[in-house]
Amino acid sequence: MASASAILAGLYLAVGAGTVVGWMTAMRVKMTAMPQMVSLFNGMGGACAAIISIVEYHSHPDGDAMYLLVVFLGLIIGSISFSGSMVAFGKLDEKIKDFSAKWLTIFNLLLLGVIICVLVVAVSSPAIFGPSVLWILLLLSLLYGVLFVMPIGGADMPVVISLLNSLTGMAAAFGGFLYHNQVMLTGGILVGSAGTILTVLMCKAMNRSLLNVIIGSFGGGGTAAGAATGDQVVKEINLTDAAILCAYASKVCIVPGYGLAVAQAQHICHDLEKQLENKGVEVYYAIHPVAGRMPGHMNVLLAEADVPYPKLVEMEDANGMMNSTDVVIVVGANDVVNPSAKDDPGSPIYGMPVIEVWDAKNIIVMKRSMRSGYAGIENPLFFHSKTKMLFGDAKETLQKLVGEVKMT
Ligand code: TAP
Repeated sequence: MASASAILAGLYLAVGAGTVVGWMTAMRVKMTAMPQMVSLFNGMGGACAAIISIVEYHSHPDGDAMYLLVVFLGLIIGSISFSGSMVAFGKLDEKIKDFSAKWLTIFNLLLLGVIICVLVVAVSSPAIFGPSVLWILLLLSLLYGVLFVMPIGGADMPVVISLLNSLTGMAAAFGGFLYHNQVMLTGGILVGSAGTILTVLMCKAMNRSLLNVIIGSFGGGGTAAGAATGDQVVKEINLTDAAILCAYASKVCIVPGYGLAVAQAQHICHDLEKQLENKGVEVYYAIHPVAGRMPGHMNVLLAEADVPYPKLVEMEDANGMMNSTDVVIVVGANDVVNPSAKDDPGSPIYGMPVIEVWDAKNIIVMKRSMRSGYAGIENPLFFHSKTKMLFGDAKETLQKLVGEVKMT
């Protein structure tokens, strides 16, 4: 048996190594890759909770029904969270493609049913499976985690990440229960409940029920990325005309999206706002709750560039202001300004609230190409009669636009 001091030394070593790896990874990760990192770290939390359950079962294999229930729930939820988070990581990092099929939804429901049945038998009659139940539940749960996240994609991913996060919290709380550790229990409950609240809020922001997200499998019906534009006409605008349009407007709205984050164009965007204000133009930003790749992404970016907070207008209020807005400049946003969410019942994002930029008098869309956004679907806004495309990298284009506005 290892001595108490050797165990303690091992623990400190593990904590130290984990801290260094976590710290280094977090310092190096790009802001736009933050969701991947959250997913990876969340999966590690789930794996820890599952390992705790395995170790605890072997320490007290003859525990009472309540004890076994907590051990098995920690194992099941932790394993689902681990494998689900790994798949979510792969998808966010574009290493794994969505896969959805009707049979998979049915298979997943059956698999969940089997897990619940094994759990009930394992708790009520532990002798039937014996210790092998641990490995049965582990394998079934890992498989379920993979298959349950596999069909979910597109705009539903943030909801799944948040759901997995709350699962890890719950699994950790079961660990705290097993160890009679109040800190772990409270921490787990806090993560679990915060994740659940965030999940519900995100579902509300996207106007989708959680059940629909989990079994609805996003992305089946939309037009694929880079879809043919058919006979539709795309109108372009040059920098000089865009500058004139903005400088002579009374009210300009900037809609930031993921592309703004990729280009790191927040500072130059703030410069444009100041230049326009110098010319007497009223400028505000319309913020969609899931613009970017994590909750509050746009608020954080714009705050970093010292954009005054009152200028950030939430989607509902911004939509009310669109009628009186002369020019909307969409900077690297796509899904969050897609009119299909309002008027195309066949679209995978139908029902999701969007920023209704088409109610403004003029729309300038700033992006590099006609490629689709995160949800992988075509955006009819680009062909709208009021829309003019200003192609290019957001930062470079905004830099040139600021120069043109100064000269206007
Ligand atoms: P997206 O729909 O992803 O569109 C971003 C657009 O930015 C792309 O179409 C891209 O077009 C353009 N872009 C990329 N790099 C650029 C650059 N350097 N300069 C200019 N444009 C650039 O973004 P969104 O409208 O912000 O919507 C967010 C999406 O992500 C939603 O579907 C949302 O559900 C999902 N999501 C959100 C979160 C959270 S919680 N916020 C988390 C994960 C996923 P080009 O390639 O043609 O330039």
